[in-house]
Order: sequence, then structure tokens, then C-alpha cells
Amino acid sequence: MKSSRRKFIKTALASGAAIGLSSVPIFAENKEGRIEIPDSIFEQSKKTNNVVGLACEPLDKVRIGFVGLGMRGPDAVDRMMKIEGVEIKALCDLLPERVKSVQEMVKKAGRPEAIEYYGSDNAWMKMCERDDIDLIYSCTPWHLHVPNAVYAMKHGKHAAIEVPAATTLKDCWELVNTAEKTTRHCMMLENCCYDFFELATLNMVREGLLGEIVHAECAYIHDLRWLKFDKEKGYQGMWRLKHSIKHTGSLYPTHGIGPVAQIMNINRGDKFDYLTSMSTNQFGMTIYAKEKFGSNSPEANQTYKLGDMNTTLVKTNKGHTIMIQHDTTSPRPYSRIHLLSGTKGIAMKWPQQKIALEPNPHSWLKEDEYKLVMEKYEHPLAKKIGEKAKEVGGHGGMDFIMDWRLIYCLRNGLPLDQDVYDAASWSALIELSEISTLNKSTSVEVPDFTRGAWKTTSPIGIVS
Ligand SMILES: NC(=O)c1ccc[n+]([C@@H]2O[C@H](COP(=O)([O-])OP(=O)(O)OC[C@H]3O[C@@H](n4cnc5c(N)ncnc54)[C@H](O)[C@@H]3O)[C@@H](O)[C@H]2O)c1
Repeated sequence: MKSSRRKFIKTALASGAAIGLSSVPIFAENKEGRIEIPDSIFEQSKKTNNVVGLACEPLDKVRIGFVGLGMRGPDAVDRMMKIEGVEIKALCDLLPERVKSVQEMVKKAGRPEAIEYYGSDNAWMKMCERDDIDLIYSCTPWHLHVPNAVYAMKHGKHAAIEVPAATTLKDCWELVNTAEKTTRHCMMLENCCYDFFELATLNMVREGLLGEIVHAECAYIHDLRWLKFDKEKGYQGMWRLKHSIKHTGSLYPTHGIGPVAQIMNINRGDKFDYLTSMSTNQFGMTIYAKEKFGSNSPEANQTYKLGDMNTTLVKTNKGHTIMIQHDTTSPRPYSRIHLLSGTKGIAMKWPQQKIALEPNPHSWLKEDEYKLVMEKYEHPLAKKIGEKAKEVGGHGGMDFIMDWRLIYCLRNGLPLDQDVYDAASWSALIELSEISTLNKSTSVEVPDFTRGAWKTTSPIGIVS
């Protein structure tokens, strides 16, 4: 970038602080007037093995070490015990009682005892260093996902990490660089890609029912005030609340963007080009804290950076747009929206599942017509294991379909449906949306984590 073209951003230092760098360069707008964060500050090497479509040695059994056995982890262990070809090799949590309680579950299921790790912040590292584990499955708080995955990959393990994979751009690059250097899988466990309606719409789009998807809307709208202020559940100094104190923007975009990005071929024929993001001020957390703890409480007097509602708009290279909303504060029903607007019709999931199609696109399909379409486009994965998934449970079955598919791919030496580039580009929206929000919604370039491979990579198919 020539210095004559540079137009420095007044609040660049604030943005820099948001990405957690100790000495912060001033970000400049590029010739299109967008903030572009130079790759050099992430020390990413330009020349690495690209791991698009990575297929690894097939595993007869997948031996798993789990880390993080709070609310989410034990259900993951339970689901994995119901999948053929899985060994529950090791269990790790900071708290011994959580390991013991999941160990009881394992024994009750008639399985061999798992090796236990607990009691120190770094006990999970010892687990990663073992040579009889294939996959580290992490359900830890956000700040540990990247350290868990990077250390696991450096020790020859595949890594599956909860959402979001990372919360900073620096960490997104760290995942990509490590996966490329180690040629290990790094999958973010975006379960919403495997929900029934999302899978069916992927099938519809691949079959051309909705035409070309030119615009999509998605969200994470989930009133989590109860959880953020729950000192019991929000373990470790209420880690969820800490993010709302320190950050604004779209804190948790991947449940919404994951399925949409797959359907719209992001990193596989298209890519996120740039985004602009805007947040409301913060209102609801303070009101809630006053009601719950009293007006004079520290919680009521705390400053929370997170705006109640964030709206981020992404433009893709092919000229499509995506709206992503984030609101974990407002008292309103849950929604991920999942709206796909194409050249031949529209499908949406929230607030109600609906489809409208040419030649009658101005009215929603009637119940019987809708049912016929849904039957016709039921996704093969849902057909194959949907019933069992519903029995096992976990967000209505999608968690089981995700785990089943992960194990299937690992056992058959297949590329995973979500790779490290997806993990990085979907998670990068967190910090990029914060940078834009803090800079009066100035548009921000989205880094191309695939380093150009998106142009030649095929879209994911209808997995059969
Ligand atoms: N995909 C989904 O639908 C979904 C749903 C809920 C949560 N999540 C994600 O799952 C992750 C965990 O969420 P949760 O609700 O279970 O959180 P939690 O706080 O209930 O559990 C986290 C666990 O990690 C353990 N832990 C913390 N530091 C550790 C360390 N150094 N070593 C070992 N263990 C450590 C804690 O003791 C705790 O048991 C988060 O990333 C969250 O975003 C995803």
C-alpha cells in the first residue's frame, strides 16, 4: 500500500487493542476505502502446504481424548459412546469431580475406564502428548480452543474444537498455519450445519430448487442473560460474561453463518470479501443486573461493551450478500433465521419454516405442498441416521449427526465437511465485526485464509 493512498483511521488504536497486540500498528484504509489488516502482523508464512481437501490415513478405531467436561463435554462423550468405532481413551477437566462423573458414565456403558487428567491448567497437554490418541475433542471455554487444537496438532492428533474456533484474527491464522504445517485435521464443531432443515436446504440448493442464492440471513439470537450471570454455571469467573464486558460486535456468529457459508460455497468457489457491522448500545444487561442483583451491585455498575443487537453485512466475491445478527441479551424467542433468498425462490427456518417458489413466489407453500418438498429434499444423512440422532438427542439430533459424520470421515480417510479454513473464516467474523463496529461501521476486508485456493476448490456436495 503506497503511503500516498493511506488514510489513517482515527480509532485504529482502539481496533488494534481489540486484536490483543502489544504494539499496535495503525490500520489504514485501502484504495477501496476499507480497513485492511496487513497479513504481516500475524507472521503467517506465505508458503505452506495447503490442506484444502485434506484426507488422512483411515483409522480403524478413533481413540478420543476429551477436554472440558462442563455443560457441553459430557453429552459429547455420551454421543460418541453410541457411535461404532470410537474408543473413549481419556478424559480431562480442571475439576476432578467432573472427570469422575463422566468416568462413571463410561463405566456404566460397559466401556473400559478412560485415563483421567485433572487438577492443573495444563493437564490437557499431558493428554495430547500420549501416543494412543487420534483425536482431541475440546469443549473448553473459548480462550482454550486454539491452545488445545494447536498443541494437539503439533502432537500428531486431529483436533475437533467447539464453537467459535477462535476469537481473534491472530488465532484464526494460528489454526490455519498449524494445520498446514502438521497436516492434521482441525474441525470446528459447528453442529448447526447438521440440523435437519439446514441439511435439507443444502440439498435443495444443490439440486437447483431455489436457483442461485443471492442473499442470506442468519443469526444467533438467544437470550443468555441467565447463563452469563449464573455464577454456578458460568464457571471460571463467568467466562461468557467476561467477553460481554470486553468486546462488542458479533461474538458468536458461527451457528448462523456455518450452514449458510456451506450452502453459498464460501471458501469453495466464493469467499467473504468484506463486511460492515453495527451494534446498538448496551441496554439489557444492565437492566437485568439491576433486577437480579440490585442497583448498587457491582454487576449493575459494570460497563458491558457488548451491544444488545449486532448486525453484520458481508459481501461475497461473487456479489452475494449475507446478514448476520447477534443478540444474547434481548428478551425474545430463539432464532438463527436461516433465510436463503435465491433467483427461483426462498426458504426460511425462523420464526417459522417456510418455502416459496416460482412460479408462485408471492405466497408461501401450503402445508401439504411444503411437506412434499421437505420429503423430496430430505438430506441423505438425515435419512440414514436422523431417527437414531433424534433418539440420542443433543439439540434435536444435529449434534449426533455431526459426531457420526466426523467419525465416519476419520475412519474412511475422507476430507471433513468443515476444514480449518472454514473454522478460521467463520470465526474471523468475530474480531472483524468488532473492528468495523468500533470504526463507525467502516467496511473491513475479510482475510482469505485459503490463500487463493477458494477459486479452484469444489463446493461440498450432498453427502450421501
Ligand atoms: N455447539 C453448541 O451448540 C454449543 C453449546 C454450548 C456450548 N458450546 C461451546 O462449548 C464450549 C464449552 O461450553 P460449556 O457450556 O460446556 O462451558 P462450561 O464452562 O460449562 O464448561 C467448560 C469446562 O472446561 C473446563 N476447563 C476450563 N479450563 C480448563 C483447563 N485449563 N483444562 C481442562 N478443563 C478446563 C471447566 O472446568 C469446565 O468444566 C464453549 O466453547 C461453548 O461456546 C457449544
